[in-house]
Amino acid sequence: AGPHADLISSHIRDVPDFPEPGILFKDITGLLVDPEGFRAVIDALAHAVPADVDLVAGMEARGFILGAALAAHLGKGFVPIRKAGKLPPPTHAVTYDLEYGQACLELREGTVRPGVGVLLVDDVLATGGTAAAAAQLVEAVGARVVGLAFLLELTALDGRSRLAGREVSSILATAP
Ligand code: PRP
Ligand code: MG
Repeated sequence: AGPHADLISSHIRDVPDFPEPGILFKDITGLLVDPEGFRAVIDALAHAVPADVDLVAGMEARGFILGAALAAHLGKGFVPIRKAGKLPPPTHAVTYDLEYGQACLELREGTVRPGVGVLLVDDVLATGGTAAAAAQLVEAVGARVVGLAFLLELTALDGRSRLAGREVSSILATAP
């Protein structure tokens, strides 16, 4: 754990049985609203960034918050990877299984050029379904996933196994 791990984890709230029974929701709202907490998260994410990142991409919705702030901090561009039906065509789409339910992610064609090095950012790595789908999208347009950065990794769900062979970093790791 990095130097600000305690500060960061103190602002994350566990909400049992949300949005469905059996799911322990990790609420990061208190972290975002706290100036030191938010800064500590972005600093910690920036610390683990691979050298060959050209662009930062975030997964809707919570990946937008961290990914966009990190991109601005690094002086890089930001690409939104959105849920189905939000982006105008032409898009690439990938359907995937979520911890609860099913979902579809889309990437606007032409936003990520072939060969570009992309860092994927999200708040939580749970089953890895979201991250694997996002990685698939980036690679479908011929770009490279040079890393995946998370605020929080729920290690017991073993999302890392779905990202095998990739550069994965998380600020905090915890059992769900
Ligand atoms: C949550 C979380 C991650 C994803 C992790 O997003 O923000 O994106 O689940 O789960 P996984 O590793 O099992 O795919 P969610 O789609 O629930 O909602 P959001 O729009 O609030 O980010
Ligand atoms: Mg999400």
